[in-house]
Amino acid sequence: MNILFAASEAVPLVKTGGLADVTGALPLALRKLGVRAGVILPKYEEIAESHIARFETVCTFTVQLGWRKQYCGLLRAAIGGIDYYLIDNEYYFKRRGLYGYGDDAERFVFFSFAVVEALRYLDVRPDILHCHDWQTALVPFLLKTRYAHDPVCRGIATVFTIHNLKYQGVFSKELMLDLLGAGEEVFRTELLEFYGAANCMKSGLVCADKLTTVSPTYAEEIQTEWYGEKLDGLLRRRSGDLSGIVNGIDTALFDPMNDPALVAPYRHSLDEKRRNKTALQRELGLPEAENVPLIGIVSRLVEQKGFDLLAHILDEALSEPAQWAVLGAGERRYEELFREAAARRPDKIAVRLGYDDGLARRIYAGSDLYLMPSKFEPCGLSQLIALRYLSVPIVRETGGLKDTVLSYNEYTGEGNGFTFAHYNAHDLLFTIRRALKFYADPAAWGTIAANAAKRDYGWDRSAKQYLALYDELVSN
Ligand code: ADP
Ligand code: GLC
Repeated sequence: MNILFAASEAVPLVKTGGLADVTGALPLALRKLGVRAGVILPKYEEIAESHIARFETVCTFTVQLGWRKQYCGLLRAAIGGIDYYLIDNEYYFKRRGLYGYGDDAERFVFFSFAVVEALRYLDVRPDILHCHDWQTALVPFLLKTRYAHDPVCRGIATVFTIHNLKYQGVFSKELMLDLLGAGEEVFRTELLEFYGAANCMKSGLVCADKLTTVSPTYAEEIQTEWYGEKLDGLLRRRSGDLSGIVNGIDTALFDPMNDPALVAPYRHSLDEKRRNKTALQRELGLPEAENVPLIGIVSRLVEQKGFDLLAHILDEALSEPAQWAVLGAGERRYEELFREAAARRPDKIAVRLGYDDGLARRIYAGSDLYLMPSKFEPCGLSQLIALRYLSVPIVRETGGLKDTVLSYNEYTGEGNGFTFAHYNAHDLLFTIRRALKFYADPAAWGTIAANAAKRDYGWDRSAKQYLALYDELVSN
């Protein structure tokens, strides 16, 4: 079985969030099951030269965008047994950062066409093209429309995975029809049209043969109006083809026993873990206090992650006997929230704004608790990494957080974290206090840490579920 992932980011080449963790780790897990897996993504300026040096050019071709022809280079490298392909066009991708440009519609329409055209030049023809999020959602659409009769594309099945329904790639009708070189025939409510505009995500949800999302609970939630981002009706109609498969983490890449970013390796020992806490306190300028609980946050600073709740109760939370270590980047209002808190209470909270993989790992290792009160969370990898590093998650029961974190029950001794159900600031505060109470009880804490350590957060089970889905498609 040959699978090609089309995605806008993938570890180890380039990462801004959990999507890259998944498109990096899942191909490796599939490979262990005998699948030949490849990943195709744009050749961004952000990809380190040390990676680029391993690539060789396969060919160049042109991509037709409306009336224009654009240059496209195709590069290839085998890294860790996975075939990586890069789509090269410096005008579109030699820029700082990955997303957020005024011409993102054009950049990812170009990328989608390039992926389909590249099928002619790959070493092996994929049985399945597995596309991820709105940036590649047009690929199933192109295969079902423009390329429906192209012999190279015929018979290639498609899977589309929703990592985040909030970001849909919605652009004006005129722009999209121009870029696609298509007419009114594709601008139908059953295809691309969305409240008068064109919606890339929607086209993927309509056209892909199978749909998945990254946890069973999120698969249910997005079929409701509250979480459905105006696509719940369509998702209900396609519910027979939609499944939720929970993400794992690459347990070799996230391994506190073998993580060069840490000062003290550990697996199950809370004593060894504590050495990382002291080092983190020193690094961040927090008072070095072994027994004061440390709460970590490593996150994109966006509304999704529940920081509005935290804003309501931050002062009260900061008056609890705990320290906070925050790493993140994103919206100004949340950056300000944390920056101001750190200026007011430097003895209690240290904040670093930006993206820093090493510091992220030191926060997972150095913190006792990990906070993720998300408003919605398709899966969440941070809580899985936290659990792997024995940092006990405090989460809201939504999406993948609900599927991976079980609240501690002091009567049965079950549970690997602390959870609350309603999107309510005082429930969050109550839950933080509840967690701190049990932190102060070494027997209870030992049980919770042991429960966290017991579970396997790797990809093995979920990779098998993907393989079963692929098998179903190929045998049809
Ligand atoms: P999302 O993809 O919605 O941002 P996930 O929890 O699925 O959330 O994945 C986030 C990933 O990105 C995790 O690996 C997390 O450690 C990492 N990450 C998020 N923000 C930062 C940051 N500022 N610096 C380093 N790593 C970060
Ligand atoms: C998205 C989601 C996150 C998920 C990740 C990988 O970024 O916000 O919950 O874990 O994709 O699937």
